[in-house]
Amino acid sequence: MSTSPFRPDALAGRVALITGGGTGICFGIAQELGRHGARLMLMGRREEVLKEACEALKKQGIAAAYVAGDVREYANAEKAIAATVAAYGKLDILLNGAAGNFLCPTDKLSSNGFKTVIDIDLLGTFNMCRAAFSSLKAAKDSLILNISATLHYQGTIMQSHVMAAKAGIDALGKNLACEWGEFGIRVCTIAPGAIGDTEGMRRLAPLGADKKIAADVPLRRLGTTDDIGSAAVFLASSAASYITGEILVVDGGGWLTKPAFVDRATWEKLAAKG
Ligand code: COA
Repeated sequence: MSTSPFRPDALAGRVALITGGGTGICFGIAQELGRHGARLMLMGRREEVLKEACEALKKQGIAAAYVAGDVREYANAEKAIAATVAAYGKLDILLNGAAGNFLCPTDKLSSNGFKTVIDIDLLGTFNMCRAAFSSLKAAKDSLILNISATLHYQGTIMQSHVMAAKAGIDALGKNLACEWGEFGIRVCTIAPGAIGDTEGMRRLAPLGADKKIAADVPLRRLGTTDDIGSAAVFLASSAASYITGEILVVDGGGWLTKPAFVDRATWEKLAAKG
């Protein structure tokens, strides 16, 4: 965990509900929001994982509780909002991070496989936003922060299901930013690149592919969960109070780049020859 550039009380008094907050990037975000004063409710499908995550946060002096549930079920979304308001009296920040992913060529993907990822990522985000609307409106100056990706900016093979889901999340975020701005609800999105040491990387970049990815990123490294956590703290803080509808890409420039025709060392040799 890195030293934060933000004031430790940047999010004091704020209450955040984080779906998928038990592990990976979203646990990293939870930790960063908590380190800056937010009180947390984690939501996920696996109670044991959530319990362990809460214990780790509490050891750091962060107020954390959990509610088990699947974002695909609207009743579970309502339950999570109710649990958050019951525990802390309100809801200021909804972070939609619950996601499903696996590699699969589209010609091998079943209809249910496609639907499953759309349901977790996109329908789940809709369910949470819809169920949270009244609480976020009551809180005023509130935030929905969606976790998307960059893989749909180009054609990423074996990811048609996730590309479609994440493109939908981006579209939904833009819509809600426009519809709900008048109620004091900002809606922003973070699009992380390849983040090291996460379940996502283990699933999507097996067999050492992460090293090749890191070498190709303009900033020459994989991202960290702290990188994403810091972006979330910024967007949740008063520094971002006039930012809504924005998709913040945090990927070291990864999606922008493409393989070079010649590498720098080869160019230097050619240039030396004249
Ligand atoms: N390749 C192809 N299809 C797959 C698959 C894979 N690796 N994994 C699941 N599916 C298909 C299943 O075959 C099934 O379709 P079918 O009924 O036509 O056979 C459908 O997806 C649902 O699978 P199921 O295992 O019942 O879904 P689930 O709700 O229990 O699990 C997943 C959801 C599939 C996303 C699962 O991978 C998961 O829970 N992942 C954990 C979260 C995660 O992915 N984190 C990484 C975030 S980047």
